[in-house]
Amino acid sequence: MTSPRVQQLIDGMTWAEKLGQLQIVFRPRPEDAAALVRAGIGSTFWPRSAAATNALQREAVEHTRLGIPLLIGLDVIHGQRTIAPVPLAMAATFDAPLVEDLARLAATEARSGGVTWTFSPMIDVSRDPRWGRVVEGFGEDVHVNAVLGAAMVRGYQGTDLAAADSIAATAKHFVAYGQPEGGRDYNAVDVSTHRLRNVYLEPFRAAVDAGAAAVMASFNTVSGIPMHANRHLLTDVLKSEWGFGGIVVGDADGVRNLLPHGVAEDMVQAVRMAYEAGLDVEMGGAPSDVAAALTPDVLDGARIDDAVARVLALKESLGLFENPYVDEDAELVAPTAAARELVRGAAARAAVLLKNDGTLPLSAPARVLLTGPYADSTDHLGAWTQSFAAPSGSIAGELSARWPATEVQVVPGVSFLGDGSDDIAAAVAAARIVDAIVICVGEPSALSGEAASRSDLRLPGRQADLIRAIAGCGIPFVVVLANGRPLVVADWIDEAPAVLEVWHGGTEAPAAIVDVLTGERDPAGRLPMSFPRSVGQVPVYYAHENTGRPATTGGALELEHADVGLHGPDNVQDKYTSKYLDAELGPEFDFGHGSGYATFTHGEPRLTVAELKLERVHAGEAVTLSLDVTNTSGRRGDEVIQLFIEDLVASVAPPVRRLVAFERRTFEPGARAVIEFSVGQEQLGFWVTDGVGASFRVERGTFHLHIGGALKHTQFVELRVI
Ligand code: NOJ
Repeated sequence: MTSPRVQQLIDGMTWAEKLGQLQIVFRPRPEDAAALVRAGIGSTFWPRSAAATNALQREAVEHTRLGIPLLIGLDVIHGQRTIAPVPLAMAATFDAPLVEDLARLAATEARSGGVTWTFSPMIDVSRDPRWGRVVEGFGEDVHVNAVLGAAMVRGYQGTDLAAADSIAATAKHFVAYGQPEGGRDYNAVDVSTHRLRNVYLEPFRAAVDAGAAAVMASFNTVSGIPMHANRHLLTDVLKSEWGFGGIVVGDADGVRNLLPHGVAEDMVQAVRMAYEAGLDVEMGGAPSDVAAALTPDVLDGARIDDAVARVLALKESLGLFENPYVDEDAELVAPTAAARELVRGAAARAAVLLKNDGTLPLSAPARVLLTGPYADSTDHLGAWTQSFAAPSGSIAGELSARWPATEVQVVPGVSFLGDGSDDIAAAVAAARIVDAIVICVGEPSALSGEAASRSDLRLPGRQADLIRAIAGCGIPFVVVLANGRPLVVADWIDEAPAVLEVWHGGTEAPAAIVDVLTGERDPAGRLPMSFPRSVGQVPVYYAHENTGRPATTGGALELEHADVGLHGPDNVQDKYTSKYLDAELGPEFDFGHGSGYATFTHGEPRLTVAELKLERVHAGEAVTLSLDVTNTSGRRGDEVIQLFIEDLVASVAPPVRRLVAFERRTFEPGARAVIEFSVGQEQLGFWVTDGVGASFRVERGTFHLHIGGALKHTQFVELRVI
């Protein structure tokens, strides 16, 4: 519903003024900014201070005919000044309220400087760790992306966009950007409507339900149609079917990219295609000669009015017409103590204990060696932070401060990427005379993020050589892995007694890492993406469809079975199943994997009823599944209970399992609690597509509800829908 103010403005706008509202320009050079605003641009990237933002708003409000304030956009991805763990690490916390708080903190800092619009959260389901952008999202699972995406939208936007600590969120990238062929960024996506509906669209549906102010079109094609020109998905699905009333914003130069995509001859055609498809705001800014050619004969007037109405409605919700300025004296330019504590706790909660033979937690030894390129590196912020972000310290600095009586030696031994300075022998010599070793390895931030795909997922440089060399010393050691994507760790993992995945944890990462190493905080994160055994196995993810020939064993590279002529029923059992001859089945570490220092037992799962009538499910009836969980250790710790559904027979091949609920709960030593999940239509149903449309459906049949602390440690109860 267009408000009277917005309608009145539109009625009085010239064609050029309307088009001006439909562009967001990248951060202009300061000397050009005022002129651009006076010329009528509707939105721009943040000019990097409250004062500069106010100056631009003043140009818009006082020196344009209609005085329409600007939207000020910025990629606030995991913090503005105080940097939280990267989104993939946020996902590892399995803690939606925490993720909401982190988004709230980011919004508070950003809005205090005049930012009103962030291009976050990224909710691209990502199952290919070669793709560097997996770091920016919540991993491979549909439900995790949906729940955490909605949490971030709520965190950014609060209950009132006009509040001094709220900013507009953008769910991105719409859609299926997480499935580029070969894991190469920007590459083509060819995806069935079945998978689109059940996997890639679902998190966006949740974000729209949560009230996301904007949705960003993605760079990729979907089945041959670039998303910036995809009318079916942008308009028919997003706007018409889902009733999305916000802004569809293009990605950076995404409209211009329709030319190399090979679907538009020139920019005029590209712009026309994009607006016809349902785009509302073009990011980048069409050059003036193009703008001049975009006459009312070229672009549909009603469509343009609709787009302008959406932009003005957002400006109105943000309260910009009443108050376009921010209080320059109240700009938050450095983390507060509370902000630091929040991101430190989050970084500790994101840490995933991949394996531990009891070496962790460490108690202060007399002498400790810190080795590996992350030992004294301060590269903990991760992809997508700006130059004004609050920096982190190093693990070496933090550990030395925490253990004043310990002699802390720092010998990196190798560089990140392997250069002439590598000296593994020096690290080994130092290792021989200490009591404990912490090997700090990983990927620097620049190796993940946009345009950072990799074809090799092993630790770069000679880091694995360093781990193996240290393993040969016979001194207890732990490996700390800091990275922005799942890695292939097969070449060293068996030699390491304990491995802690810490991701890129942000401003307080080193403090959090030391908290976990020393046992001051418990690691209880879980993997939001499977860690493959090798690149050749990618994509490998838990919620895959079954094949007609599921394998039970893999890795048997035996020549006698290579006789493909023997395709009889006996051989189907072993040879003719879906697997790699040279790899064990499944990933190195599953989605949801991770342990902690505390230990837990689970009772038998219980269902309130074992049978539901389909009609009652449609009417909203649900069953409750409960599980007794007990902390059997003498430590306080967290358990992450995960509930997966297995639909035994459906009209469309179902995924072998599908996460439908999770909860992270803290238990005091010896404490017991009952965890309950409700299972009804939303959990049991899936999208059925035909050539025309899609409907969400629950089918009669048997379901196994698998519940536990990790995929491989679940118990199930049976539920029948009759
Ligand atoms: C390109 C990226 O794909 C997108 O995620 C980002 O928001 C824009 N650039 C703006 O910086």
